[in-house]
Amino acid sequence: MTKPASPKDSATGLAAPGLTPPGLAAAPDGRPLFAHYLGGDRKALGLAFSRPSGLLGRLAGALMARKNSPMNAFAIAALAPQDGERILEIGFGPGTALAMLGRLAPGSALAGLDPSALMVRAAARRLGALRPGPDLRQGTADALPWPDGQFHAVLAVNSLPFWSPLPRALAEVRRVLRPGGRFVIGMRMTLPEDRGRLEPGCEPGEVLVLRGLLAGAGLEPGAETALRGRRETRCLVALRRP
Ligand SMILES: C[S@@+](CC[C@H](N)C(=O)[O-])C[C@H]1O[C@@H](n2cnc3c(N)ncnc32)[C@H](O)[C@@H]1O
Repeated sequence: MTKPASPKDSATGLAAPGLTPPGLAAAPDGRPLFAHYLGGDRKALGLAFSRPSGLLGRLAGALMARKNSPMNAFAIAALAPQDGERILEIGFGPGTALAMLGRLAPGSALAGLDPSALMVRAAARRLGALRPGPDLRQGTADALPWPDGQFHAVLAVNSLPFWSPLPRALAEVRRVLRPGGRFVIGMRMTLPEDRGRLEPGCEPGEVLVLRGLLAGAGLEPGAETALRGRRETRCLVALRRP
């Protein structure tokens, strides 16, 4: 017997089994939030980047490692790591940001989570020389395998649009952060002039919805900073309320 498609699947046109799109939140015009990443003509591309596996996943990992460095460096500048801090990255992909953090704040304790076995192996190879070695785990943002109040900062670059269900994942981020801890979100933006580009991005209206979800989860959204290149990268820092 075939499993009936969930309403979220039909809302995004996503047919892949085992991958639920982040459809619990809605953009102001009623579209599922971040559907741009996983739906329509970007489905195959979205899958390669949202849960890299196989040959296409290896290619996606290599592309991320080559192209996402400026975005990761920008997000790390917003995070402003201090030596001795415990820092978690969710959706680390090939491990570019963790490698930068290891160089910038060698006394920090790094941890990372990614659902892709391929990316966990790739990051472990990239970070093999780091001492102490980062605590890398395979899993998803909605069930973080760490105790409460564990981290000074949580980083997510180009990964939050894939978290599902998003409200539960945000509650998990709040749970593992210490009071006052920073949650730094790096996003590639799709501005009106970027429409039609292959690489997906967040729309300004979606960032507004995200700010509301963060506040509802006890993570106070602060100012956003933007890095302008061929595409805009935006960083949003939210602080865990006590
Ligand atoms: C586009 S890649 C970005 C990787 C890296 N942060 C970078 O900037 O190069 C998105 C990553 O998010 C991960 N991811 C997808 N769904 C996730 C989830 N529910 N929880 C945590 N990470 C997830 C994917 O496996 C993938 O490695």
